[in-house]
Amino acid sequence: MKAIVIDGDALRWDDVATPEPGVGEVRIRVRATAVNRADLVQRAGAYAPPPGASPILGLECAGEIDALGPEVADFALGEEVCALLAGGGYAEYVVVPAGQVRRLPPGLTVMEAAAIPEVFATAYLNLYLEAKATVGERFLIHAGASGVGTAAIQLGKLFSNPVAVSLSGESKAQRCLALGAEAAFDRSQDGFWEAVGGWTGAAGVDVILDPVGGAYLEHNMKVLALDGRLVIIGLMGGAQASLALGPMMVKRQRVIGSTLRARSVAAKAAVMDALEQRLWPAFGSGALTPIVEATLPMAEADAAHRLLASNETVGKILLTLE
Ligand SMILES: NC(=O)c1ccc[n+]([C@@H]2O[C@H](COP(=O)([O-])OP(=O)(O)OC[C@H]3O[C@@H](n4cnc5c(N)ncnc54)[C@H](OP(=O)(O)O)[C@@H]3O)[C@@H](O)[C@H]2O)c1
Repeated sequence: MKAIVIDGDALRWDDVATPEPGVGEVRIRVRATAVNRADLVQRAGAYAPPPGASPILGLECAGEIDALGPEVADFALGEEVCALLAGGGYAEYVVVPAGQVRRLPPGLTVMEAAAIPEVFATAYLNLYLEAKATVGERFLIHAGASGVGTAAIQLGKLFSNPVAVSLSGESKAQRCLALGAEAAFDRSQDGFWEAVGGWTGAAGVDVILDPVGGAYLEHNMKVLALDGRLVIIGLMGGAQASLALGPMMVKRQRVIGSTLRARSVAAKAAVMDALEQRLWPAFGSGALTPIVEATLPMAEADAAHRLLASNETVGKILLTLE
């Protein structure tokens, strides 16, 4: 089969071995995958795939079931599916444990479904399973216009959690407000954190979803409420910071570190079960929508990476094999 191969600084569409499904696995003929920030970091050599995962880029895909491994009873050949991957999506075929695969949400195309697994799983996992958000709790979502951010805004609206976001630029702010955010704060402006604090008020915000890390830790803890949860899912602003333990203890705040990719197959299957039960009907009704900034042919993966790295995108970039 063909796949995108990392060759020094370049990405090449090259011949590689077609993977064979093992026990409990299926092979998907990929029709679309989507680009994630993690792909840029993996490509740069700073984010190795978990043990046993494909070295090929790509954390999600949609396509058709092409082959079934032993002991897979839930799928039939030719069924259209989407899947959460530990790697391997930038290819004609990918093998994945069946528990990480789902039929498409009602009414969605294969292309639309390719934009769902990684970012909706990340947002749902961290807001509702890790932070255990309850109805009415308020969210601060950093990088609100990112793939994960646009999913998180929509989940907040769906489950009655008021959302404020941080981002750069007025056009991104307008997109996030249209998706359901109550407020949008521009991280490039002076007085950014004062503006965030104005929204959170003296009570603070209940849950923060933060892909920035070090540079935001001190400020995040100041705007976090009594019993608030800060979930760190990325380190775009550095991996080091100091934490004032006194206020954290007195305010009973929790700092949670979380990654999705390295979790067990069973844990990822449980997240996909939750998505299918709680989110698939909302995709069907239009209450949730995959947000797609651009769609490029798979062979143009390098251009897609440059577009994502520009920080100018809202939502996802798809790579297709149509
Ligand atoms: N832990 C996990 O399991 C998990 C899973 C998926 C994603 N993630 C993380 O979630 C984040 C979003 O991923 P994505 O693929 O959705 O991203 P994306 O669509 O590429 O968006 C990233 C956005 O982050 C903002 N940003 C970039 N550098 C920044 C910095 N130094 N400080 C603050 N903001 C910065 C930019 O938007 P603005 O300029 O508008 O702020 C940029 O457009 C990434 O950090 C990713 O690694 C974690």
